[in-house]
Amino acid sequence: MKNIIIILFCCSVFIVRGYAADARTAPKTGAAAPAGVPVYKNPRFSPEKRAQDLLARMTVEEKFGQLQQLDGDWDGPYKKEDLELARKGQLGSTLNVRFAKNVNELQKEAVEHSRLGIPLLFGFDVIHGFRTIFPIPLGEAAQWDPQLAERSAAAAASEAYASGLKWTFAPMVDIARDPRWGRIAEGSGEDPYLGSALAVARVRGFQGADYGAPGKIMACAKHWVGYGAAEAGRDYNETNISENALRNIYYPPFKAAADAGAATFMSAFNDLNGVPASANRVTLDGVLRGEWKFSGFVVSDYNSVKELVSHGLASDEEDAAVKALSAGVDMEMVSTLYRDKGPAALKAGKISAAALNASVRRVLEAKFRAGIFEHPYIAPELETTSLRTLGTLALAEHAALESLVLLKNAGGLLPLDPATKRIAVIGALADSKLDMMGSWSGDGKAADAVTLLEAIKETVSPKTKVVYAAGCPVTGGTDEGMDAAVAAASKADVIIVAAGETADMSGEAASRAFLSLPGRQQELIDRLKKTGKPVVAVLFNGRPLELGPLDAEVPAIMEAWYPGTVGARAVALALFGGANPGGKLPVTFPRSVGQVPIYYNHRSPGRPYSAADKYTSKYLDSPVDPLYPFGYGLSYSSFTLSGLSVSPASIEPDGSVKVQVTVENISTKAGDEVVQLYIRDAAGSETRPVRELKGFKRVTLAPGEKRTLEFELGPEELGYYYAGGFFEVEPGIFKVYAAASSVGGLETSFEVNAK
Ligand code: BGC
Repeated sequence: MKNIIIILFCCSVFIVRGYAADARTAPKTGAAAPAGVPVYKNPRFSPEKRAQDLLARMTVEEKFGQLQQLDGDWDGPYKKEDLELARKGQLGSTLNVRFAKNVNELQKEAVEHSRLGIPLLFGFDVIHGFRTIFPIPLGEAAQWDPQLAERSAAAAASEAYASGLKWTFAPMVDIARDPRWGRIAEGSGEDPYLGSALAVARVRGFQGADYGAPGKIMACAKHWVGYGAAEAGRDYNETNISENALRNIYYPPFKAAADAGAATFMSAFNDLNGVPASANRVTLDGVLRGEWKFSGFVVSDYNSVKELVSHGLASDEEDAAVKALSAGVDMEMVSTLYRDKGPAALKAGKISAAALNASVRRVLEAKFRAGIFEHPYIAPELETTSLRTLGTLALAEHAALESLVLLKNAGGLLPLDPATKRIAVIGALADSKLDMMGSWSGDGKAADAVTLLEAIKETVSPKTKVVYAAGCPVTGGTDEGMDAAVAAASKADVIIVAAGETADMSGEAASRAFLSLPGRQQELIDRLKKTGKPVVAVLFNGRPLELGPLDAEVPAIMEAWYPGTVGARAVALALFGGANPGGKLPVTFPRSVGQVPIYYNHRSPGRPYSAADKYTSKYLDSPVDPLYPFGYGLSYSSFTLSGLSVSPASIEPDGSVKVQVTVENISTKAGDEVVQLYIRDAAGSETRPVRELKGFKRVTLAPGEKRTLEFELGPEELGYYYAGGFFEVEPGIFKVYAAASSVGGLETSFEVNAK
């Protein structure tokens, strides 16, 4: 009895002192919790204190339960067995369970019927929209407009929140240099600078300043790390990445996401230099937590803990659980090895109590920060008032417009006259709702989507006759179908052909060994060209394609990616001059798959390409340069750059220079230009890329308008990581380029003095 009294006394002192210490973080309004309410249930305490208190009350099984995430059904319901797990406190989170009815029912078991009442965290892949689908992330990257990406992510978050979610598995920030890899569609392309800017924008958009606020959801930077470097572009394949490339190319967008406050990270599927990412102590414990001080939690990828056995890292399932948890993977997605093998492994001393507690604490702290202890349920009426609002649809259309990249416009064929008498719209993709949304299209409904054909009909003059023929599906097709399309097209004044890939040809498990237009599409285009009518190609695709044959045949090509629910309207608007395309490629488009991997920020060989010299870096059967370089894109306007200047001419290694350049719209049409700033560190203790993007600005200029833009280059832009993970600005000459793409432009230089 005496002991009990002492313990109670200590607890009450702790509560009183803790309360006082946390007064700053206490909500400004609301009554104090009634006496006897445990610390963890009292929002006046900090997340850290609440987690500490709760942890001390948990059994081993409940602790492993918090680290378990299970899948619901793809369309939103939970699995019946989850009710019991939630009741027993053996479930921490779900993915795919969504909508008020499902979420609230399952949450009730956890909150009202489990011993400790710990709420579940409901996660989902909100990648480019929830119900209103925005352009795929690669298309968003083509906007070169992080503020717009932030607004798009915020809109997606509010729809997801309204459907009971509090966590998205996004942003996907994997750098990808190989278009064979289908998941290139989900990221920001090949560049770490652009990728970092978008990582920050998306984290901010999803989370806002406080992810516990209504309408905000937790972000998850994925897939940590190196997943985008899958060998041969084959999904899930091994990756072998030098420390230099990891630190200078692959890590930066993750670091940016962590610095922006991303609540969680996801450990990747891939084997990285011999140790799978989901049990990689160097990257998880060493870099992420050790160097970067990331304090959120890490969730595994789908089954990736169990897959440590097939990788050959773990000898059996228990070993897999031990290795993943000990390396710092806190929550296990879908496989159940922590739950099934963890308690015995803990008893046997294979998992340390400290590692287990640290993981549980991180998950609990995130749940406290997310506010779900106080607000575990979602109001069902939000689903009817907050999805697909006019504002979100308008934003999605604007986002699609900014993502368009005009790849070719010979003779100024575009924009077309909306009063053209007869237009033939050809291609199965022109009449496909599903394919407008792309992969990972959240809870988007094909029925909501607008097709290109519908959008063209809405846009042209009422007197215009629009005829449609599929010609051939994306794969397969018959001679009769092709003949019918050619017949329809030959009577038209202009032909708009939609070509590319179906939505499921990119995304996860959608690698391709060839990058040409699939099926008979090129043959169809050859035949359309032979009609002698002008042909405009609109591309729907999630990766760079081999477009050489298309480029050789048609005068105008518009890259539309997968533009989302209402994105086709933006495409039609741009085709008929209601808007002016101004996006730029966030990834290099190769001439052929044989050039892959190809990216602008490569290093220089000792024998750089020279047409005149055989013994230089080249192919016998292909040019070395890409078809369309990184950063490339046209517009209906024309721009010039002038007056590039850098000052001062020399700086100390910790100094910075100001760069100025003037951009002018020399055409008669208002339009957007993306001014890009690149550097080259001319010589260093390790060789540096021939160009590195270090700044960009998308500006809208009226006809004849001129604007002088200013950029700053300081240690963050000028330094790099060299062997051993040291970051330094090295003395020597830095070249500076201001350009409209990664090729050409204006050039100047400055010097960094020796220390
Ligand atoms: C993907 C992740 C995704 C997860 C949950 C995995 O297959 O690699 O990106 O978040 O599934 O859907």
